[in-house]
Amino acid sequence: MPLLAWKPEYELGIPDVDHEHRELFDLINELHASLFEPESLTTVPGFLGELFSRISSHFALEERLMRDGRYAEFPAHKSDHERLLDEIRDLMDDFEDGGYVDLGRFAVALEQWFSVHFSTHDAALHRWSASSG
Ligand SMILES: [Fe+2]
Ligand SMILES: [Fe+2]
Repeated sequence: MPLLAWKPEYELGIPDVDHEHRELFDLINELHASLFEPESLTTVPGFLGELFSRISSHFALEERLMRDGRYAEFPAHKSDHERLLDEIRDLMDDFEDGGYVDLGRFAVALEQWFSVHFSTHDAALHRWSASSG
């Protein structure tokens, strides 16, 4: 069973952003599924790297929209993005140092991060984008 289930309320109505949100969900589900594969220890670093770069480029897209539109909540939204990227970076460091991370817990944390971020920061971004047309 996939870890993350897409919900209609995640849909922001900004097509580029929605498309990337769905892709991130798929990637996180794949990461979660791969944890149960016997070769998971060797595939994990690549997966984390891929996840990090896809998430950063998604955040860059939103941040560009906000910067271009002089969105007032830009700093708070961006700092929530940075908090998640820091967490992923820490995890990659831990993996390099000790060869082990609790990815099951990480996947759950990601799930929580995304549901909260979607329903707060990204939803507000959507309301702003809809009203500034
Ligand atoms: Fe987003
Ligand atoms: Fe965001």
